[in-house]
Amino acid sequence: MKPRPKTSHLRISAPAKVNLYLHVTGKRPDGYHLLESLVAFTDVCDTVEVATADTLSLTLKGPYAVGLQAEEENIVLKAARKLATWAGIEPHVHITLHKEIPLGAGLGGGSADAAAVLKLLTQLWQLNISQDTFMAIALELGADVPVMLTGKAAFVSGIGEHVEPVIQPFRLPAVLVNPGVFLSTPAVFKQGVARFSPPMPTPEPIAQVLAQRHNDLETAAITLQPVLREVLEILAMQPGCVFSRMSGSGATCFAVFDNEAQAGDAAKAIATTRKNWWVKETGIY
Ligand code: C5P
Repeated sequence: MKPRPKTSHLRISAPAKVNLYLHVTGKRPDGYHLLESLVAFTDVCDTVEVATADTLSLTLKGPYAVGLQAEEENIVLKAARKLATWAGIEPHVHITLHKEIPLGAGLGGGSADAAAVLKLLTQLWQLNISQDTFMAIALELGADVPVMLTGKAAFVSGIGEHVEPVIQPFRLPAVLVNPGVFLSTPAVFKQGVARFSPPMPTPEPIAQVLAQRHNDLETAAITLQPVLREVLEILAMQPGCVFSRMSGSGATCFAVFDNEAQAGDAAKAIATTRKNWWVKETGIY
């Protein structure tokens, strides 16, 4: 008999990520792409709550709950079922997800939520799970989930399974912009990358160094959603911008600034002229 859980309700923040750079270095025979990326976190967060219940269920709240379905396919429910199967128990839990991270945005929202559920349920169900097993379950849920589990900026390679945390702490002043268009990750990868990038050493997480890197999915994403070219140009022309880039498979783009005041001014300027765009000033860490 497993001991009865001591806690019945837990809550955690699930921060959005950006890919400070994302190089596609090849393609595996199964169609997945080999990547090299520096994944870092932002101040934009979903919140995930779990509570013991008689069945498995999900309530969606917040500005981006619309467009998501509390159904079988929801990654949050998949995460709960997968962990319960591993533990040999029934996934009897009620999950509440407050969605603040835009969907289909390259910000890893779904992956962040799945990682949060894995962490919370491990605690709620008092599971003794090795780090390797935890990471393997995460990878089955999505290529971005392992790095989300670590919750720390990391160099990610393979298809997402190799996660090497950055040792030196950093905080880059930045602005995130999403023009309100949705990009599906498989669609962007399917659109293709003209030329694979050569493997490169991991750089220092310093704005001027990262400016020399790129996102190999930008061209494909711009082909599917041409407004992204305008987003990147507007970010690049803001005073103090060190570089502007797309995150993940889009559609969110970001710019890193010399200082917080310039990031703040840029966020205000863009939000004023582009009222329909989602604009957030943030630290990237
Ligand atoms: O793993 P995730 O659900 O994020 O991936 C969504 C899709 O993106 C995959 O089905 C695949 O088409 C593509 N992908 C890829 N190479 C990666 C990650 C994702 O081709 N490393």
